[in-house]
Amino acid sequence: MTIAITGATGQLGRLVVAGLKKKGVSDVIGLARSADKAKDLGIPVRIADYDKPETLAPALAGVNTLLLISGSEFGKRAAQHKAIVTAAKKAGVQKIVYTSILHADTSPIDLAAEHRASEAEIKASGIPYTFLRNGWYTENYTGSIGGALNAGAFIGSAGNGTLSLAARRDYADAAVAVLTTPGHDGKVYELGGDAAVSLADFAAAISAASNKRIPYNDLPQAEYAKILGSFGLPTFLAEAIAGWDTQAAKGALRDDGKQLSKLIGRPTTPMAETVAEAVRAQLQQ
Ligand SMILES: NC(=O)c1ccc[n+]([C@@H]2O[C@H](COP(=O)([O-])OP(=O)(O)OC[C@H]3O[C@@H](n4cnc5c(N)ncnc54)[C@H](OP(=O)(O)O)[C@@H]3O)[C@@H](O)[C@H]2O)c1
Repeated sequence: MTIAITGATGQLGRLVVAGLKKKGVSDVIGLARSADKAKDLGIPVRIADYDKPETLAPALAGVNTLLLISGSEFGKRAAQHKAIVTAAKKAGVQKIVYTSILHADTSPIDLAAEHRASEAEIKASGIPYTFLRNGWYTENYTGSIGGALNAGAFIGSAGNGTLSLAARRDYADAAVAVLTTPGHDGKVYELGGDAAVSLADFAAAISAASNKRIPYNDLPQAEYAKILGSFGLPTFLAEAIAGWDTQAAKGALRDDGKQLSKLIGRPTTPMAETVAEAVRAQLQQ
């Protein structure tokens, strides 16, 4: 039973590869667009670039199960995922596990449109599937901790909204569980952390871990986007991030079903634990 993993050189992919190794699963192939970047994966690697369809079907030869980790180039992903699903069909892949977005079918978040298209593409292929509708990684916010410690405040635009944050490794463990246990065909999992937290809670966790007073400063969406832009983020990304916070304020990134902890057989990593790790790393720099 050969399992292939796209995005194997990415952060989630690397955690999935490590998780499969830990479970003793040996028949695993990493799919990567850069052989160089994949050198240290410690598993066989095949070149597969979503933008080069000619690389995809050969990369999937003999593969039974494909973990399709969604790509990272917003706006291109529906076409990219379509290319790999087409190649999977051609290569005779028997199962696709796809990392989607929380509540993909109803989510108002702009990113959801590409995931809706990809889920539809996978369904239309007739290949048995499992959708892992991942909520937000806690790590989406930990990158801002250094800036918050310097500025003396954690900024965002999510108001009092609460998000079901979980650590990236929790989502990776969910993928490992689905890849290594039976009974997931046709299932759609809405995945998020056990506890929903606000950005004020996040700031409080930074304060506790750093012994500094770091309040949460909630900003209007446009102002937050402007500040993110002033940090060097491209305008489209700064505006997108601020927009996601605004949707989070309305509950778009919350799910109380606890399907993630059920899948992984343990509680999800508390937000404060991921924050404390990131604060420690920041203070050691
Ligand atoms: N739930 C969340 O909070 C959240 C947050 C961020 C992203 N995501 C989504 O989840 C995915 C995995 O997260 P992550 O943290 O692992 O992201 P990541 O570290 O950016 O990894 C993305 C992976 O996609 C690969 N990729 C991008 N374009 C490709 C192409 N044209 N052909 C082949 N591979 C391509 C990248 O290859 P390289 O290694 O060569 O760059 C990388 O391995 C992301 O790509 C994104 O769709 C979810």
